[in-house]
Amino acid sequence: MAATGSSGAKARDGWSSRSAFILAAVGSAVGLGNMWRFPAEAGANGGGAFVLFYIFCVALIGLPILLSETLIGRHGQSSAPESVRRIAKESGKSSHWDTLASFGVLGAFLVLSFYCVVGGWVLYYIGVFAQDLFSTGVTGGAFEGRPAGDIEALLPSLFGNGGLMVGLHIAFIAITFYFVSRGVSSGIEWVATWLMPAFFVLFLLITIYGAFTGAFSEALSYLFTFDASKLTGAVMLAAVGQAFFSLSLGVAGMMTYGAYVGRDVNLAGTSGIIAGADTAVALLAGLCIFPIVFAAGLEPNGGPGLMFQSLPIGFQSMPFGSVVGLLFFVMVFFAALTSSVSLMEAPTAWLKDKAKVTRPMATLIVTVAALLLGILAALSFNDLSDFQPFGFIPLFEGQGMFDVLDTVTSKVLMPIGAIMTALFVGWVAERRLIDSENGLSGGLEKVWLFLVRWLCPLALITILIVGIFPSILGE
Ligand code: TRP
Repeated sequence: MAATGSSGAKARDGWSSRSAFILAAVGSAVGLGNMWRFPAEAGANGGGAFVLFYIFCVALIGLPILLSETLIGRHGQSSAPESVRRIAKESGKSSHWDTLASFGVLGAFLVLSFYCVVGGWVLYYIGVFAQDLFSTGVTGGAFEGRPAGDIEALLPSLFGNGGLMVGLHIAFIAITFYFVSRGVSSGIEWVATWLMPAFFVLFLLITIYGAFTGAFSEALSYLFTFDASKLTGAVMLAAVGQAFFSLSLGVAGMMTYGAYVGRDVNLAGTSGIIAGADTAVALLAGLCIFPIVFAAGLEPNGGPGLMFQSLPIGFQSMPFGSVVGLLFFVMVFFAALTSSVSLMEAPTAWLKDKAKVTRPMATLIVTVAALLLGILAALSFNDLSDFQPFGFIPLFEGQGMFDVLDTVTSKVLMPIGAIMTALFVGWVAERRLIDSENGLSGGLEKVWLFLVRWLCPLALITILIVGIFPSILGE
């Protein structure tokens, strides 16, 4: 059990140690965002320029906000909106600031609904590689003797099978439900402490395998050659959005996890570890995926198809391709599950507080609601591709439900949540209270405060406006 809250002596369910918190938070941050979205975004946005700007965003915007979010949670010791309300009250400010976190809780719920859809695809590819392993054996490449077009067609044919898409989504969200309903220390922490170390071992092995058997140097120069002419407004926007998604920021996830941290933990230190680990995994994921893709002579700009189409083709020509392919998707599943539990925990904690229901009940309600919304997202790839209920809004023009959920969270709710968090911590909450929580002193504290007060809000407001009205960039 973690330390009790500032508000009472009742023992609460919480992380059993500092390292449990770090593993859970790294588990939340490291997920499909690193393995699937980062390489795809880097590929779609010209490689090196995107990567460099991404690192810059993590350090100057992501890290200060990460510290702000965990700090709010730890001081409030409650679900995200309740934590904000408590701090506002202690600071003599309007309790309506809790709206900032309510948006966040909504955002986490929306991300959960489409995240579990992609989690379902990961389960599907585990099945595909497992089946291939049984039929072709360990030694050769994956899918021996089958034309690349066949492998590429696996994804569209999955999209075309509505029943399977929904079934996989339900399977993934049910697994998430199981762990979240068991509670923080015996469910979420359990997942993180077993799956994250397993993830890291697999990840290093596969990256080393890619380095020896794939086109490693080509991948290296692709990801790290900085070409300033490629750094356009759109690329910068994509980089900030990716940094936020990857660090689980802007939607109350890290506030919720912060509430379970003991008083003795230095939040600045842990934030640095979390952001560092997440960024290292994103960069290494590029160095894991691109060598395999390049070795097969494929193009890097595969977009979402990168992990689910190009990579499986890459495994075809690699020694032990079926085994490594299977391990790869198992590893991605581990990363995705430790993230989806955090996405589910934010609305669950809120509902548990708000409606005074038990944890299993709160988890069940969140799961069923996200499941139904996720079905619309899952079917938007084919059966419901014409169902575009928000198409009349320019921001969502031509988008099915999956894309609408992605756009509304990453372009609207995440920036708003992060702006309000920065303003709240930088200007609204009482200084004494913030100073006692942040674990910083001297020059570093001044730098952090400057970033939270000025750079983060200004940069994020720009991002919000340009994200909603892309024509400003005139590109
Ligand atoms: N960060 C996770 C990833 O990279 C996704 C995620 C988990 C998330 N929790 C979040 C994204 C909260 C936004 C907010 O895959």
